[in-house]
Amino acid sequence: MNILVTGGAGFIGSHTLIELYKAGHTAVVVDNLSNSNPESLNRVERISGVKTPFYKVDIRDRKGLDNVLDQYTFDACIHFAGLKSVGESVSKPTEYYDNNINGTLVLLQALEAHGCRNLIFSSSATVYGNPAFIPITEECPKGVCTNPYGWTKSMLEQILTDMQKANPMWNIVLLRYFNPIGAHPSGLIGENPNGIPNNLMPYVTQVAIGRRPELGVFGNDYDTPDGTGVRDYIHVCDLASGHVAALKAIQAKCGLGLYNLGTGQGYSVLDIVKAFERVNGVPVPYSIKPRRAGDIATCYSDPSKAFRELGWKAQFGIDEMCRDSWNWQKNNPNGFE
Ligand code: NAD
Ligand code: WQD
Repeated sequence: MNILVTGGAGFIGSHTLIELYKAGHTAVVVDNLSNSNPESLNRVERISGVKTPFYKVDIRDRKGLDNVLDQYTFDACIHFAGLKSVGESVSKPTEYYDNNINGTLVLLQALEAHGCRNLIFSSSATVYGNPAFIPITEECPKGVCTNPYGWTKSMLEQILTDMQKANPMWNIVLLRYFNPIGAHPSGLIGENPNGIPNNLMPYVTQVAIGRRPELGVFGNDYDTPDGTGVRDYIHVCDLASGHVAALKAIQAKCGLGLYNLGTGQGYSVLDIVKAFERVNGVPVPYSIKPRRAGDIATCYSDPSKAFRELGWKAQFGIDEMCRDSWNWQKNNPNGFE
């Protein structure tokens, strides 16, 4: 299939390109580079041998999208483009609603006008809020999000669901990612956060490489085995292959599909710190800090629906996630610069 990949220069998008090429698909990327570096696409070429056509386009720019859509015929769109910083979304809500929601609406209208009615959307476990039950199946009701970023995902799921219902010609797969970490085993592409990392693994790797003195562990009084927050970390290459599996559902004219992409295994913050130190042989000094506003104690998936219906299952464990995150950081201490 020929795939339009929005946000394809970013962390998950660049890894997904590799999996798409491995599966024999072709791709074109649009990205406004607001949170990425085009060097990621050169690295994708080094890994896969495939040069990705790239257009620096903001998905809110209808003319820019039309220009790309006029030049190619796309079988589907994998839509990663969006702003994703939870903290920033609290201070800049209108920017987040405009970029993520307005951007997606413009994209949908452009796709519709060009007859491409197949879409895979990057949603998030954040839509479950404080989950009603654990492990979280897709039956778990959506919850109250604690920040505008989360609401953009929750609202976009609703918008896409309404649109597919109104026009069943559309096939849409909503993928709810749990916590993606790791990097391509080559060490050539990986997560490249701007400024102080918000997420756990990039913070851990920056402490390990000496860019930051210690990790702050946000709370050790949660109702979890060691008191620190438990999450379902998933290797980004597994997440990427989940998109290739979802394309099969699109090809089978799934209508509306909804899947968790996680491993089903929960690890605490201290589990991650210990695994990282053991696998990589580097110390990660830490100290306990107060809880972070909006955090929940435990969040992990039941990913069995994706296995049953898409034949997809995560292959990598926590050791590979820690190894590959470190390999990327070590080889690229300043990201793509
Ligand atoms: P990322 O920031 O690395 O990639 C997103 C890409 O989208 C970036 O390259 C950015 O430049 C681009 N972009 C943003 N706004 C755009 C716009 N208006 N027009 C064109 N391009 C635009 O983030 P990622 O981690 O690769 O996440 C990809 C998607 O998955 C996002 O939608 C994110 O919300 C979602 N997601 C991420 C996580 C996570 O923890 N990384 C978890 C759940 C869901
Ligand atoms: C994981 C655990 C922290 C940093 C976020 C978004 C979610 C999704 C994935 C996009 C928690 C603890 C963290 C640190 C710490 N993104 N922690 N010290 O919060 O589960 O999910 O990213 O959709 O929407 O909310 O991920 O990596 O920030 O935190 O102790 O410096 O690590 O408290 O328990 P989170 P995270």
